[in-house]
Amino acid sequence: MSLAGLRVVVSAGPTYEDLDPVRFLGNRSSGKMGFAIAAAAARRGAETVLVAGPVHLPTPEGVARIDVRSAAQMHAVVLDALPADVYVGAAAVADFTPENIATSKIKKIPGEAALVLRLVRTPDILADVARDARRPRVVLGFAAETDDVAAYARGKLDAKRVDMIAANRVGQAGSGFESDDNALSVYWRRDDGTVGERTLGPAPKVALADALLDLVEERLPA
Ligand code: CTP
Ligand code: CA
Repeated sequence: MSLAGLRVVVSAGPTYEDLDPVRFLGNRSSGKMGFAIAAAAARRGAETVLVAGPVHLPTPEGVARIDVRSAAQMHAVVLDALPADVYVGAAAVADFTPENIATSKIKKIPGEAALVLRLVRTPDILADVARDARRPRVVLGFAAETDDVAAYARGKLDAKRVDMIAANRVGQAGSGFESDDNALSVYWRRDDGTVGERTLGPAPKVALADALLDLVEERLPA
């Protein structure tokens, strides 16, 4: 139950993708899960860096927090925080961002019934951490799904070459984004290529954070 001497980087919260000086595209992530993981890592003695999207949460004790806004900023700050022993990608990173940020407020055009926005893909922070030369020994991603949780989570394990995926079913009462409680299905790739699976919770996110870090510690070579 110790991460003493190790460096843990956690991303948390949503990202906001600006459309113009007054509008953005965001999501419902509260940041609570990632903040709980960072707090638990610091309690276990890790040098803990928390890269936080826009949230209203207090900085956990003993945690070095860096606030960011967009997916692009989060990508730059997380990669800058390497090398690390563990990366936990708990942020709900926007998959798409406006191709252009308008420098002035977007105005309605008289007679135009619709506005077409063109969005482009953001960098995949988790995949880039997993393929970096300074790759942490344990890379843990999250998967927020509304259906087929197990199949998608296993797919992400392979596609992003991460060590563990913690999947939660969003859009259900008592779990997911805004709640204090959650239930996670955790998947990890074993050395022999088979996939391990454990269900954690339903439980408060603070308790889940500790249970998740127990699993992370099992993956860390002594
Ligand atoms: N993630 C990331 N960078 C992105 C998008 C996602 O680092 N640009 C990370 C998230 O932090 C999470 C994991 O990827 O740890 C999975 O996020 P999720 O949205 O569930 O899956 P995606 O891979 O984005 O695929 P999709 O949304 O299409 O299901
Ligand atoms: Ca996504």
